[in-house]
Amino acid sequence: MKRLLIPRRQFLTLSVTGGLLLSIGQTKFTFAQIRKEEKMSYNARDYSRLIGMEGFSETLLKNHFTLYQGYVTNTNKLADTLRQMLKEGKTAASEYAELKRRFGWEFDGMRLHEYYFENLGAKGAIDKSGKLAKKMADAFGSYEEWEKDFKGVGAMRGIGWVTLYQDTASGNLFNCWINEHDGGHLVGCNPILILDVFEHAFMIDYGLKRADYITAFFKNIDWKAAEGRLK
Ligand SMILES: [Fe+2]
Repeated sequence: MKRLLIPRRQFLTLSVTGGLLLSIGQTKFTFAQIRKEEKMSYNARDYSRLIGMEGFSETLLKNHFTLYQGYVTNTNKLADTLRQMLKEGKTAASEYAELKRRFGWEFDGMRLHEYYFENLGAKGAIDKSGKLAKKMADAFGSYEEWEKDFKGVGAMRGIGWVTLYQDTASGNLFNCWINEHDGGHLVGCNPILILDVFEHAFMIDYGLKRADYITAFFKNIDWKAAEGRLK
């Protein structure tokens, strides 16, 4: 989706250096720059295939998709604003610093939702003889111990995410708590399984019964998708 909107009154000029320029206010963009910036933007992915999933109402899922789309929009907006501020030499401004800090929150909110939706929508238990279950058993003693730990992290008070991480340097697995979207990530680790425990992920269907939501989540995990993320 094209996001760089150019008002009609703005005009095209031919550059003496041979490039076609678009003048937008005081800033000029070549088409090559515009194409590059469009490539740097993100499009919201379609997860409507999840509608009908056991234990998740259509209302809850549709609200959740809308919320996710907001993170994509805001990630793009922030990236555009930060690029513009850089071009205008405003990197010393306090606004630039605050937006830079905010970027990780919006970006991680977008990406964590994608991991979450993409590890949902299947049926059936994990294949205990598969690569992922074996790595869980190596790290936790057994699949059941891993699940107990993952659910324990999911029951923690507060809003955030549960992440099964694989340390790409050692191959080790860890269950982690991500505070909001951007606090608590492990550097160099790859997300394998993501569970959203913000209240919007379950309150429409479960009220305060977060444990029941986590039970429903486990019934719908796409274990093949999770295993496919192993390095
Ligand atoms: Fe969410």
